[in-house]
Amino acid sequence: MKSLFACKPISALLPEGDDATGGPTLRRALGAGDLVMLAIGAVIGAGIFGAIGSAAAGQTDAAGHVIRSGAGPAIVFSFVLSAGACALAGLCYAEVASMIPQAGSAYAYSYATLGEIIAWIIGWDLILEYAVGNVAVAISWADYFRSLLSAFGVHLPVWLVTGYRTALLSDNPAVHGLLTSAPHIAGIPILVNIPAVAIVAAITWLLMIGVRESSRANNAMVAVKLLVLAMFVIVGFSHIHPANYHPFAPNGFTGIHHGAAIIFFAYIGFDAVSTAAEETKNPQRNLPIGILGGLAICTVIYIIVGIVLTGMAPTSQLGVADPLARALELNGLTTIQWILSLGAVVSLSAVLLVFQYGQPRIFFAMARDGLLPRWAARIHPRYRTPYVTTLVTGVFVALWAMIGDADETYDLTNIGTLFAFVLVCIGVLVLRYKAPERPRPFRVPFVWPVTILGAAACIFLMAGLPGVAWIRFTVWLVAGMLLYFVYGYRNSVLRRAEGQPQPRPQPAGD
Ligand code: ALA
Repeated sequence: MKSLFACKPISALLPEGDDATGGPTLRRALGAGDLVMLAIGAVIGAGIFGAIGSAAAGQTDAAGHVIRSGAGPAIVFSFVLSAGACALAGLCYAEVASMIPQAGSAYAYSYATLGEIIAWIIGWDLILEYAVGNVAVAISWADYFRSLLSAFGVHLPVWLVTGYRTALLSDNPAVHGLLTSAPHIAGIPILVNIPAVAIVAAITWLLMIGVRESSRANNAMVAVKLLVLAMFVIVGFSHIHPANYHPFAPNGFTGIHHGAAIIFFAYIGFDAVSTAAEETKNPQRNLPIGILGGLAICTVIYIIVGIVLTGMAPTSQLGVADPLARALELNGLTTIQWILSLGAVVSLSAVLLVFQYGQPRIFFAMARDGLLPRWAARIHPRYRTPYVTTLVTGVFVALWAMIGDADETYDLTNIGTLFAFVLVCIGVLVLRYKAPERPRPFRVPFVWPVTILGAAACIFLMAGLPGVAWIRFTVWLVAGMLLYFVYGYRNSVLRRAEGQPQPRPQPAGD
């Protein structure tokens, strides 16, 4: 039992990013500005361009059962609720990220604070945030890509742009009907989302050739997404109809709570900055600036967009995959609508880039610790990127996005991410007592209330997600535990080194 909770010494975590191991290491190329851009690149995406529709309007399944109550125009309170939880968790992330600047995010922190088995659970759980989250973003990307193409008169066959799960779950008879109208092979309907697969493949290639190139591309995409949302707000402002604000909260606090639980997706990503720790210059100073700065900027933008969007159209009209485009269309602003679709395609590409960047680095850290096979921790000798895990992530995300459904993956991503946030909040508190003397370049103020409230706020948001998300999450965790006992438990570098003076992991060779 005791060895399950063995902690990796923090001092053993720190030097891994340096050249001390003698093998090729990740390149330190990112500054504070790059990190804020990385945060915005990850954060503003499918949440504000897509999930805001379900959050405001609510959602029903194919049989007409209510899955979640809509927040209505009170979605702005949902944003505030979610932002509050993220700010508390963000402070905790900033403290641990600045103490342990290593690839692997919450995974590495928990290995040093809560023990190996908890670290494994978090690493496994973070797959839901990064890889499964990207499935939702890739599907949303494909939706906007399709509407962009149709603005230019190009119409792809519906069965090549719709995933099987989307058709199965939709309450829209036209979409559900694809199950029978799509071409069949051996009795199975062929419903595949080809644009989603294509964008994931392109992003994976970009990341394999190196972080610096990817970071520059991200900066350009962030500029585009800010411009396009500014355009939406400025144009939309003069099309606000005050009547749309009544009723303001059609489902009362339940609607706001359910809305906050799904719109939380819009904030996921600010923590992804911490996965770049090993590639950051002066991480002790730059990581907290990147995480908290990025979160603050995005919160302000979301609230403004939420106010304008719900003023432009009745929320009952917004329960679609592209609610911002829909609001423009309902107000006759078709030119602005296609520019916005183009901006959404660019924005979602930036989100994909950051998450496809983060996931391989978590796998990389886990493989380096022996919890996953060692060959996965190889670094490319020329590009100095974790190319094996980048490729594995790309294939996983592309295949799921080909047949998956966005709403279903939003929920699974949110529950997994919130759970990781809970463990990070608790981890900060534990570490204050386990390693009080350790230098903390960034300290959480009022550590008791902030960590406890942060964990409680995340649990509260989890409670707003549908029951089916809880069931899937439980199944995912059980599968992870089985894998740990079959592989990680036996191969852990930390456990194998037991009895030796310093459990220093070996460099990953090629
Ligand atoms: N926050 C990211 C998005 O909304 C995941 O797409």
